[in-house]
Amino acid sequence: MTIDERSMTSSSTIRSDEVARFNRLAATWWNRTGPMRPLHVVNDLRLGYVLDQIAQRFGRPVGALEGLRIADVGCGAGLMCEPLAARGALVVGVDAAANNIAAAQLHSKAAGLNIDYRVGEPDAALHDDESFDVLLLLEVVEHVDDVPAFVRDALTHLAPGGLLLASTINRTLRSYLAAIVGAEMIFRVLPRGTHHWAQLVRPEELEQAAAACGLVPGERRGMAYLPVVHRAWWTRSLAVNYIASFGKPASQQI
Ligand SMILES: C[S@@+](CC[C@H](N)C(=O)[O-])C[C@H]1O[C@@H](n2cnc3c(N)ncnc32)[C@H](O)[C@@H]1O
Repeated sequence: MTIDERSMTSSSTIRSDEVARFNRLAATWWNRTGPMRPLHVVNDLRLGYVLDQIAQRFGRPVGALEGLRIADVGCGAGLMCEPLAARGALVVGVDAAANNIAAAQLHSKAAGLNIDYRVGEPDAALHDDESFDVLLLLEVVEHVDDVPAFVRDALTHLAPGGLLLASTINRTLRSYLAAIVGAEMIFRVLPRGTHHWAQLVRPEELEQAAAACGLVPGERRGMAYLPVVHRAWWTRSLAVNYIASFGKPASQQI
């Protein structure tokens, strides 16, 4: 979309209340024992999945990312961007919270990594002619307005043959008990109000949004997190946290 076209549309996938809350958390983002601790623990687990999926899709050794173009949309302060850039990927990180992008830039600079961080939602922050081999939507779709539009805006920039990896929280009774009552109210490992049950996204809803853009579903895995000991592991159940992969057919044009 051109800047002129964008200025004529008032629709946005940004929920200002959510972005304001994430902006307030930016300074603590890289503190492994702070409010973002669960995200750090989950990140360690999901990095293995991300590297495996990329290796399978592109026929490379696990962790060999040299020259791959990766966009991490809703990247926060860059927990996933950094290990990917450190392995040679060309990473663009996009986030609607300006404070997160500032924290991400500071941290990656200190780590000596070259990551292209941008503030905004995908429609505005990614350029019309830009395409990526891998698109990451990690723990973000449950925080946006209009999930299908957000997924579509991001997928516009996925190259033919590309890979989408998306993780989020299912909308089930179990997720209400685990992610909201357990994590926010009882164990308080996440700030109160981090998740709103009605905004959580079922696997079939994510699949529909990806299918609407012509993507084919791949492997899905459940993730479990135990707050008391701060441990995460894979499960077969997708009832709470899950991650899913989707492939864009090589013949499909953007
Ligand atoms: C729970 S955090 C996840 C961060 C990162 N993906 C991770 O898993 O480590 C969600 C992030 O999505 C961002 N976000 C929310 N709505 C967005 C939108 N419409 N466009 C881009 N980023 C958005 C928030 O600012 C926040 O940093």
